[in-house]
Amino acid sequence: MTDVVAVEGVEKRFGNWVAVACVDFTVARGACFGLLGPNGAGKTTTLRMIYGVTRPSAGRVRVFGIDVAASPRAVCARLGVTLQENVLIETGTPRENLAVHGRYYLLREPALSRRVDELIELFGLQSYAATPVKALSGGFKRRLAVAMSLIARPELLILDEPTTGLDPAVRHELWGRVRALRAEGTTVLLTTHYMDEAERLCDRVVIVNRGRAICDDAPRALIAARLAPEAIEIECTPDEEARWFGAVGAAVRRVRAGNRLMLYAADAAALVERVHAAEGGTRRAFVARPTNLEDVFLAVTGTRLSEDA
Ligand SMILES: Nc1ncnc2c1ncn2[C@@H]1O[C@H](COP(=O)(O)OP(=O)(O)OP(=O)(O)O)[C@@H](O)[C@H]1O
Ligand SMILES: [Mg+2]
Repeated sequence: MTDVVAVEGVEKRFGNWVAVACVDFTVARGACFGLLGPNGAGKTTTLRMIYGVTRPSAGRVRVFGIDVAASPRAVCARLGVTLQENVLIETGTPRENLAVHGRYYLLREPALSRRVDELIELFGLQSYAATPVKALSGGFKRRLAVAMSLIARPELLILDEPTTGLDPAVRHELWGRVRALRAEGTTVLLTTHYMDEAERLCDRVVIVNRGRAICDDAPRALIAARLAPEAIEIECTPDEEARWFGAVGAAVRRVRAGNRLMLYAADAAALVERVHAAEGGTRRAFVARPTNLEDVFLAVTGTRLSEDA
């Protein structure tokens, strides 16, 4: 059995609201798998069905080959979860939080204290080990929450937006930890809104939108399949775009995010020349760069800051 997670035709309804509509994917042993999607797409709900706190309305989730709905405890003992919102005892210290969590996983002394010490060091929490959690900054609370999910050396680590609110240096450190865990054989399933994070860490991603999986592949393969390899970004209103786009070429793929327009081409320099020519001499500032996973995300989800997004 090489798949650690198998999500098969899973649906979740809350009353009449369909939060997850028929999602299928598998996570191979030792992989780092990313579940991506706009706010409200159904990522957290899908994770909750995988770690057994929410029952699917239809379909089946197997983890380590075990049906989660039938035997949630057998699954839970072998996985670690960092929830989207930290669940910490605010009056306790990081050391106390780790120890309480370790006892829940049936760790006993002296192994428990040894593991707590290791994680305090691994996550750079030494200076705060005896400080009440309520006095820690958001970033240190997040580090502690991730450390807690590792207390029992899980075979499968589930991270729901692990790096939201972390500073860039700490994000890099955490990515290093995830890579090290993978090298030791841990399977990682994460959600993130940072496409650079998904591109760096994940060997496969699924993008979900309104409860449906709309693409499933390696980040590089998704980019190559969906968009041309080079992108230019220009500041431009929809009216301006309508005025000059005919001259740029209707076949050029465009994605709009507010007043930012992204154009995709095999040769960005040639496209820039066409844009300048279409504008009749005004040389608008632009950014040329390789196409990335964020472009694919925007192209396939069409995210907008509106109620129906
Ligand atoms: N317990 C619940 N009762 C009713 N609706 C719910 C419940 N939990 C989630 N939902 C709804 O299901 C949908 C998916 O929510 P979910 O938390 O899975 O999204 P998400 O992809 O994790 O979003 P985000 O990126 O904002 O964390 C949302 O419309 C949400 O309001
Ligand atoms: Mg969520």
